[in-house]
Amino acid sequence: MLLSDLETVLYTKEQIETRVREVGGAISRAYAGSHPLVIGVLKGAFVFLSDLVRHIDIPIEIDFMATSSYGASTKSSGAVRILKDLDLPVEGRDVLVVEDIVDTGTTLNYLRDLLLRRGAKSVKVAAAFDKPSRRVVPIAPDYCCFEVPNEFLVGYGLDYAEKYRHLPCVGVLKAEVYGGDH
Ligand code: PRP
Repeated sequence: MLLSDLETVLYTKEQIETRVREVGGAISRAYAGSHPLVIGVLKGAFVFLSDLVRHIDIPIEIDFMATSSYGASTKSSGAVRILKDLDLPVEGRDVLVVEDIVDTGTTLNYLRDLLLRRGAKSVKVAAAFDKPSRRVVPIAPDYCCFEVPNEFLVGYGLDYAEKYRHLPCVGVLKAEVYGGDH
């Protein structure tokens, strides 16, 4: 059982669903009349993005970028690599970047600057989870489902060594699973 690898469940599937619906509603109201470009940051954002966009009831377009800031390690190196770039142009567009988690803020800060340099009209961010205690760059998501503590979290897009992303809840991974070096 995958769930037995969790120390605790932080937010259940049902709690996440309720909150994602609320955030989708807020985004729909805020962008009414705008037709924003929604950008999912792979890999982690694919679960949140697919749930979130189904609660956005205004016209949007969806594109993806893949970034990596961690490599194989669990610690941020501070460097952001673009592994896959956008297919659609952002010039003149209201852009909503969708992230699974904002941790140090390095990825978000890099992406926001890049998209603004490419001529985006506005860049806002929706994150499933925000871990403000880890912040290095002073940046915050505009929309956030849950503020989370500085624990090793997996599920709802968050991985440990590429595993657990598909868990419908989010929880704290048992230290014995990852070796305790967090
Ligand atoms: C994670 C997460 C964010 C970023 C947040 O991605 O999805 O993109 O790190 O960390 P930061 O605020 O410290 O920059 P990761 O590079 O682990 O790739 P993944 O989404 O494929 O797991």
